[in-house]
Amino acid sequence: MSNYHIKHLEEYFQVYNKSVNDPETFWGEIAEENFIWHKKWDRVLSWDFTKPEVKWFEGAKLNITENCLDRHLITRAEKTAILFEPNHPSEKAQHITYRILYEQVCRMANVLKDQGIQKGDRVCIYLPMIPEMVYSVLACARVGAVHSVVFAGFSATALSTRINDCECKMVITSDGSYRGKKTIDLKGIVDEALKDCTCVDSVLVAKRTNTKVNIVDGRDHWLAPLMNNASALHNAEIMDAEDPLFILYTSGSTGSPKGMLHTTAGYMVYSSYTFKNVFNYQENDVYWCTADVGWITGHSYIIYGPLANGATTIVFEGVPSYPDYGRFWEVIEKHKVTQFYTAPTAIRALAKEGSEFPEKYDLSTLKVLGTVGEPINEEAWHWYDDHVGHNNSPIVDTYWQTENGGIIVTPLPYITPTKPTFATLPFIGIQPAIMDANGTELKCNQVNGSLCVKFPWPSIARTIWGNHQRYKDTYFTTFENKYFTGDGALRDESGYYRITGRVDDVIIVSGHNLGTAPIEDAINEHPDVVESAIVGYPHDIKGNALYGYVTLKDSGKLRDEETLRKEINQSITEHIGPIAKLNKIQFSDGLPKTRSGKIMRRILRKIAHKESDNLGDLSTLLNPEVVQSVIDNAF
Ligand code: PRX
Repeated sequence: MSNYHIKHLEEYFQVYNKSVNDPETFWGEIAEENFIWHKKWDRVLSWDFTKPEVKWFEGAKLNITENCLDRHLITRAEKTAILFEPNHPSEKAQHITYRILYEQVCRMANVLKDQGIQKGDRVCIYLPMIPEMVYSVLACARVGAVHSVVFAGFSATALSTRINDCECKMVITSDGSYRGKKTIDLKGIVDEALKDCTCVDSVLVAKRTNTKVNIVDGRDHWLAPLMNNASALHNAEIMDAEDPLFILYTSGSTGSPKGMLHTTAGYMVYSSYTFKNVFNYQENDVYWCTADVGWITGHSYIIYGPLANGATTIVFEGVPSYPDYGRFWEVIEKHKVTQFYTAPTAIRALAKEGSEFPEKYDLSTLKVLGTVGEPINEEAWHWYDDHVGHNNSPIVDTYWQTENGGIIVTPLPYITPTKPTFATLPFIGIQPAIMDANGTELKCNQVNGSLCVKFPWPSIARTIWGNHQRYKDTYFTTFENKYFTGDGALRDESGYYRITGRVDDVIIVSGHNLGTAPIEDAINEHPDVVESAIVGYPHDIKGNALYGYVTLKDSGKLRDEETLRKEINQSITEHIGPIAKLNKIQFSDGLPKTRSGKIMRRILRKIAHKESDNLGDLSTLLNPEVVQSVIDNAF
């Protein structure tokens, strides 16, 4: 008998031990008893982290959408699957039942087939948080196409890079999107991006804002008429367990974004099992994750995890500040939300506006609060606990990454005693290790080291699309035979893990992973710039903000600094998107460098943290004289 739903702490430890001592039996039982398969696997797991290669449930045949949709038609056809809450509160929410969702996904699957999409083809989804986002993701999975969702806040350049990297044949978008007071011309951004993409044959356009769009004959099609004419039945493509399900791009510390590839069966089993336990989901609960489907949190915990469990999951189009800072709480009251999952940056931004906003609403339906995306500071944790949960709803501080597919360190609500700033215990099946700089596992407590995982779990990403070597180099070479997260962590005496932040050049700003290299590349595109270096520094709401040190050419030194700052941020917006804009830009005559010419970010980081009286050893610098002037001009 498998332990699909863990109910108390002792059971957690028992199940955890079983998952570690005999992972194949454990995961085999979970998979067999809780999902539908066309054929069972020949082998539960084969793996080799030195290659690296990981295969779960090899030989099994399935379609993930049959697990998310078809099987619920027997018992939950009229239950709300998707509860769509529009940007503006005066627009009516839509309750999309499992039956309607099934039909819409089948219709869209038939549209994809009619447009020539075959199993294995890549389809880019560039949509706002509207029901079509869910239809598109699931329709791709239904026909065996690999979806690559690109967050609709990314620029045309960022979009075209991602479309070209995995050679998408199709883009699914909308005429426009609403974000608070703004209307964004999404189709215009797609048109701009496609000037650089020869791989795309067709574009499907959902209507949302009635923005006037340019329809390219033969390439672009309005989605609604095609769906209306399509059959509401579709036989799902039968997939192999290890067939690709999706690609999702994440920033690296260097180079282009990494297309993390997730496969079908292991991802389904792990996202579903974590959802059930981390959120303690019960049949009549209304679950709300405020993330965007453009990020992994939206993939695993708005779409796949909840739907595999037959849950009601809210798709929220809006923003927390529109029409005012009470919006989240208003939605919780209106839909009687039971689980609420958001990011520390949102909590801090809302806390700043004062507790009078949550106080106006009835939040008594809440049973579990979640946070994800960056370390949560103690103050924000307590505000969330006091003013949202009324000290009645446990907070699950869930640690994981795009690469992980699902939550890997977390409390289980009502089971694991929580401790602010600690993500607490490894989830079932996760074997963490904290490593010192010499590559030795730290057995003692309270020492910060590099967080690794020693054993594969079902939803670990299998590769970086088109670049397996980079996958190996990034995650499996720093520590032998281990997956390296890139995060620092320490453990306390009760075995709780605290994530202490990135140990590489990835900076988490408002919960978004940003690599420094692509931002620096965008700045260096400016004709007046010689070179630049980006570091993070603490910010009350964003967690971290970006500080840019920029060396100007002589031409730039003659220009107005404020204008230059605007132009630099404009270049970043064009190349990446507004999320990567710099909070501070300091112009300097030179940047501190090693003798081999590498910029010493360690020093720049200290200066940005206002710790310039403690810069450490400067003797290895090629140009120690620039340091003082950088300090003098810092602000
Ligand atoms: O640094 C960790 C941080 O977010 C990174 C992963 O970002 P991404 O792939 O965009 O996925 C975010 C959502 C799953 C991690 O390497 N992070 C995520 N959750 C936490 C966290 N840091 C501390 N505590 C967390 N709960």
